Formats: sequence, C-alpha cells, structure tokens
Amino acid sequence: MVRVAVFISGGGSNMVSLLEDMAREGHAGTPCVVLANSADAGGLARAEERGVPTVVVDHRPFKGDRAAFEAAINAALEPFAPDMICLAGFMRVLTEGFMEQWAGKMLNIHPSLLPKYKGLHTHARALEAGDAVHGCTVHEVTAALDDGPILGQAQVPVLADDTPETLAARVLEQEHRLYPAVLRRFVAGDRSPLILQS
Ligand code: GAR
Repeated sequence: MVRVAVFISGGGSNMVSLLEDMAREGHAGTPCVVLANSADAGGLARAEERGVPTVVVDHRPFKGDRAAFEAAINAALEPFAPDMICLAGFMRVLTEGFMEQWAGKMLNIHPSLLPKYKGLHTHARALEAGDAVHGCTVHEVTAALDDGPILGQAQVPVLADDTPETLAARVLEQEHRLYPAVLRRFVAGDRSPLILQS
C-alpha cells in the first residue's frame, strides 16, 4: 500500500474526500497521517473521526524560517513513514528544498484551470476576466508555485449571476470528484491527465 500524508490548513473537505475514497475497495493508497499547520484547522477533528492520526506543526513559532518549519514537518512525519503527500488546501508556501525532496511524490489541488490564476482569489479573477468556464486542477508539485505536470482538471460553467462564493461552491463540488479520482490513478501508477466534465 502507498502511505499517503494529507496536509491541510482549514476545514479539510478535500482531505475528507480523499480519506473516504481510500477507505473504499481496490484503492492502492492508505492514509497514514493528516498534518495541519494550525491547531484551529477544522479538518483535524474530521480526520480523527475517521480514525486517521493527526499532527499539528504550527508555522507561527518559526517566524518565517521556512526551512526550520519544514524540518519540523519532516520530523513529525517520520513516525508515519509516508510515501507521498497530498496538499489539500494547505496554505503555506513550501521551499524548493522541500519540494525537491518530495519530487514526484507530492500532489496539490488548486481552484482554477491552471495555468490560469495561480495564487489566491482565483474565483474573483475568473469572474473579472469574464471567463465562460472555470474549474480546478490537480498537479504534481514542483519548485514553482501552482505549477508542475497537470494530472487532472474538472470544469464548471460560469453562470451570469455567479459571485465568487457561488462559483467557489460549484468548483469545490468538482474538487471532491477530481482529487480522489486522480489520487486513485496516481497510486496505481497512472499519471496520464484526467479530464472531468461536470
Ligand atoms: C479548496 O478550494 C482548495 O482548492 C483551495 O483551498 C480550499 C480548501 O478547502 N486551495 C488553495 O487555494 C491552494 N492554494 P478544504 O479545506 O475544504 O479542502
């Protein structure tokens, strides 16, 4: 089995979708730990309810020393021996060193159709641009922000009366379909891009 660590910062709805799919038959992955960068992350309780161990590595005491924060993350992960990491709404920027260490073994979900709208406020930016289609992307993490080989995308139509919030909610539904589907294929050795239509 491929041991999967999931990193979260908030409510962890994507993390839950990954844990639930790994609990289903025929999955080559198993969740070994959920890591959050804040004890306030709502997803921690949701992981514990599902019997998955959790750890918190608070970034704040490191005062911007990313390398020291990541050394603490690696130390916290060690007892759980993960083979790979899924970033699932993890809102800290990681260093090149960490990304190289996990190269080919770290996935991320981003709420836009990359390469469009790297970074934050993706839904507002898609609306401002007048895009007819928006969506989400799962990609391998490489040294550049929200870059790296695309493993899957799901599209949603942008509606005339959409706000950033309504659009975000529609995209999030697709994130919950896309990320588990991509992870299931990835742990089975399939890295060909998956395109989902809503
Ligand atoms: C998701 O929409 C995810 O795509 C986004 O944060 C949300 C986390 O929700 N990630 C990013 O913006 C990464 N830069 P969740 O905690 O309910 O999964």
